[in-house]
Amino acid sequence: MFEQSPLVTIIGGSGFVGRHIAQAMARRGWRVRVAVRRPNDAMFVKPYGTVGQVEPVQCNIRDEASTRAAIRGADAVVNCVGVLFNSGRNTFDACQAEGAGRAARIAAEEGARHFVQISAIGADAGSDSAYARSKAVGEAAVATAFPKAVILRPSVVFGTDDGFFNRFAGMARLIPLVLPLVGAGTKFQPVWVEDVAEAAAKAACGEAAAGVYELGGPAVAPLRDWVKLMLKFTRRRRLVIDIPPFFARIQAWFLQMLPNPLLTVDQVKLLARDNVVSDGARTLADLGIQPSAAEGVIEGYLYAYRPQGQYTQLTENGGEA
Ligand SMILES: NC(=O)c1ccc[n+]([C@@H]2O[C@H](COP(=O)([O-])OP(=O)(O)OC[C@H]3O[C@@H](n4cnc5c(N)ncnc54)[C@H](OP(=O)(O)O)[C@@H]3O)[C@@H](O)[C@H]2O)c1
Repeated sequence: MFEQSPLVTIIGGSGFVGRHIAQAMARRGWRVRVAVRRPNDAMFVKPYGTVGQVEPVQCNIRDEASTRAAIRGADAVVNCVGVLFNSGRNTFDACQAEGAGRAARIAAEEGARHFVQISAIGADAGSDSAYARSKAVGEAAVATAFPKAVILRPSVVFGTDDGFFNRFAGMARLIPLVLPLVGAGTKFQPVWVEDVAEAAAKAACGEAAAGVYELGGPAVAPLRDWVKLMLKFTRRRRLVIDIPPFFARIQAWFLQMLPNPLLTVDQVKLLARDNVVSDGARTLADLGIQPSAAEGVIEGYLYAYRPQGQYTQLTENGGEA
């Protein structure tokens, strides 16, 4: 008889981080269930493996039955569900706090061997940010329901389809001369999505000790410097200006009325705190992963934002490729 390869359920596996974890698990030969609210919109994950190896399934982490159905039979579960703002019933509390606890409890009840929770640096029950509070409540619920769980807290994550460098590069393309920033002095430690995915894959395969890990890249710098790095690679000159917190809050208050807001008041609160690996935390090094620097990766996708896109290189070299 043939033995089936192990099965991982990745809840939120169609998102930016989740899809890289799905690829990392498929490369390791696992069968992968990508559990999302709208599996029809997640068909792009199927070519990550051989025919039938990676399959989208329906799951809403707010719902007991569909979460249980997605987890049943899985050897490992990775929870990548996260929201940046409340949207209808998809709130911080419902997804990041209750949902995380529900997934971990069901994983334990269904006999999964490993549970990996993707949280975030800054998760803090005492924070004035609802995002950070719900992440902390989610972590506590996961640790109670699944004591052997591995909790990964990345700093901001970069990669081809990220919402960090791409967002600022998009703003610089739209706005002439200046680039207004909220939290320009706040320190970040961007981490490559492939390093986060490798960490999650190791944890899902049982190669990581239980507990919390904080994931950051090799460099710490204020947001203003990361944006200047983006400007260098996109060949754009902009005066980077700091929006004072008071004005940022007013701006965010109006912006958050839009359906997919660029900025919310909660995010302004988050941006007031440094987003870096804490002293004494377990890190990527404890997982045997050497983090990659942003400089070596971002040029590979930010070239699209140059004034002439991929042809900028040609014009700079006087027509020579
Ligand atoms: N990206 C970063 O820089 C960063 C930094 C630190 C921490 N994190 C954490 O990493 C995790 C993944 O982030 P990401 O950037 O990959 O986010 P993302 O691209 O927005 O992906 C989130 C995923 O969650 C799914 N989802 C949302 N609500 C759901 C629900 N009720 N039931 C089931 N699935 C649901 C989304 O699918 P649908 O909406 O299509 O259902 C999507 O697949 C999150 O927990 C986030 O907080 C990310």
